[in-house]
Amino acid sequence: MCGIVGYVGQQPAQGVVIEGLRRLEYRGYDSAGVALVSDGAIAHDKRAGKLANLEKAIAEQPLPAATTGIGHTRWATHGAPNDPNAHPHLGRTGRVALVHNGIIENFAELRGELERAGHVMVSDTDTEVAAHLLELAVVAGRDLTTAMQEVSRRLEGAFTLVAVDAQDPSRVVAARRNSPLVVGIGEGEHFLGSDVAAFIEHTHEAMELGQDQVVTITADGVQVTDFDGTPAEGRRYHVDWDLSAAEKGGYDWFMRKEIYEQPRAVADSLLGRRTPEGLLQLDEMRLSDDELRDIDKIIVIAAGTSFYAGMVAKYAVEHWTRIPVEVELASEFRYRDPILTQRTLVVAISQSGETADTLQAIRHARVQRSKVLAICNTNGSTIPRESDGVIYTHAGPEIGVASTKGFLTQLVACYLLALYLAQVKGTRFGDEIAEIIDQLEQMPDHIQAVLDGDEQVYELARAHVDNTSVLFLGRHAGYPVALEGALKLKELAYLHAEGFAAGELKHGPIALVEDGVPVLCVVPPRGRDFLHDKMVSGIQEVRARGARTICLAEEGDDTITPYADALVRLPEVPVLLQPMVAVVPLQLFACELATQLGHDVDQPRNLAKSVTVE
Ligand code: M6R
Repeated sequence: MCGIVGYVGQQPAQGVVIEGLRRLEYRGYDSAGVALVSDGAIAHDKRAGKLANLEKAIAEQPLPAATTGIGHTRWATHGAPNDPNAHPHLGRTGRVALVHNGIIENFAELRGELERAGHVMVSDTDTEVAAHLLELAVVAGRDLTTAMQEVSRRLEGAFTLVAVDAQDPSRVVAARRNSPLVVGIGEGEHFLGSDVAAFIEHTHEAMELGQDQVVTITADGVQVTDFDGTPAEGRRYHVDWDLSAAEKGGYDWFMRKEIYEQPRAVADSLLGRRTPEGLLQLDEMRLSDDELRDIDKIIVIAAGTSFYAGMVAKYAVEHWTRIPVEVELASEFRYRDPILTQRTLVVAISQSGETADTLQAIRHARVQRSKVLAICNTNGSTIPRESDGVIYTHAGPEIGVASTKGFLTQLVACYLLALYLAQVKGTRFGDEIAEIIDQLEQMPDHIQAVLDGDEQVYELARAHVDNTSVLFLGRHAGYPVALEGALKLKELAYLHAEGFAAGELKHGPIALVEDGVPVLCVVPPRGRDFLHDKMVSGIQEVRARGARTICLAEEGDDTITPYADALVRLPEVPVLLQPMVAVVPLQLFACELATQLGHDVDQPRNLAKSVTVE
């Protein structure tokens, strides 16, 4: 959840580290800090609040020149977000500085041990013990790499640690267990980052690390070992997006930029999926057709927005393949003793590839010998690496905390998976599958058409700034869209927002409806008459009780007009694909409403982009 940067090379480290932190600030923004190795000493500064506070402090009281440094932007777990709890933390004599992402579960025991030996802790964090232990090891004569291996073996929980030693400016050393860290490979310089955004302006060459590994970067090299010191290899890869993808490009928010990138993201995620013979191919599937034919149940596990993509996947997979699908919150999955067999395919959906709940869920599934397939947007992340196969989405970096293009591209991957299973199992004819892929390939144009109507949605958002409660209704594949619309509004506008399956209204939620309450209704396409008509009845029922209905309905659907206080038109698309267009106005609505309320859309309160602690 925190952002971590490390640098050693020829450039002024302060600038490289601060710039890296700026690109990682979306991961956590309670406080920020930097430590540099200069003239045999650690120079550091750290401040509560956003990175700007740290920058201001450094501008007023500059740190000395250095070419080795580390930095941190925090999402607090242990200890309030104040100056003392901000990272870096120093050892007892100030020789070692260390930053940390994750939770050290046995910190209380270690802290007790250190305090009994006379160490005084100056923060409430779990991190500080690691800084003290590391420094004890270097003072005892170990180099920083050996010291890090030694300390890592003593720690329990999830951690990325990155440290510098005042007496050895040639290296930055990191350890990784269940928490993200990638290496950036430059010429005469190397980088560490929680993700590649930290160093993308300096290099596109990256290295992914495995579990329980220690990495040492110097200006000239990278050395990887396990916690016992045994040499290990990291996987090198090329990052195929550039700096502009990590910048706002003229938009006020990353989120808004990412909403408008969706036609491109969807098109990119569909690229190269057909063989010259017209068959569907999934390059990194890694599960054989025989293994897939053997699957008799699918369990989708995910969190937040990715969970809603999983709900849509259930409709598509079951309809096209007749394989039963369960969709489960990753945080609940392993606590209910799920029934998993070798014939169960567990599909883990995660934009970041680092969500701790999802990661633990797939580990549980693999222990039960189920196959695991990841749907992920982040090359080099942990979840795809620990899965049997992966479908990468090609959304480019998603920086806004609220997921948008991540969601749409996850839907693409879910549809592709469903169609691939249909192809392998023979539950759909080849021409049917080809027709659906054709329809998918038209989606970028349809999404663009919705975006072209943005002004109407923005006006609706502006008209609703005084509302304290907003409801969302949907049915079938529109139900997860309603849930997603409500989540966007909650996390960005801090409003009471709830999504319901329209058929459930009469079983309770309709009691929430009172005069003037806005209800956003996702109306299914008319092709599915029974669904469509039931939804129209539901809309009439809430309207009769005073709701102000904002209906999202396809072009030409006039049946809805008498019951809609506002009508947002959607392109005509098949019902299973409708979530891809229906969610877009809801994203725009939440983004604009939050903007009007004066909230920080990219960094909403209490949230972090990547939830790497359970
Ligand atoms: O990276 P993941 O897809 O695993 O993240 C899952 C959720 O944390 C994420 O979708 C979250 O709900 C977003 N803030 C929603 O906008």
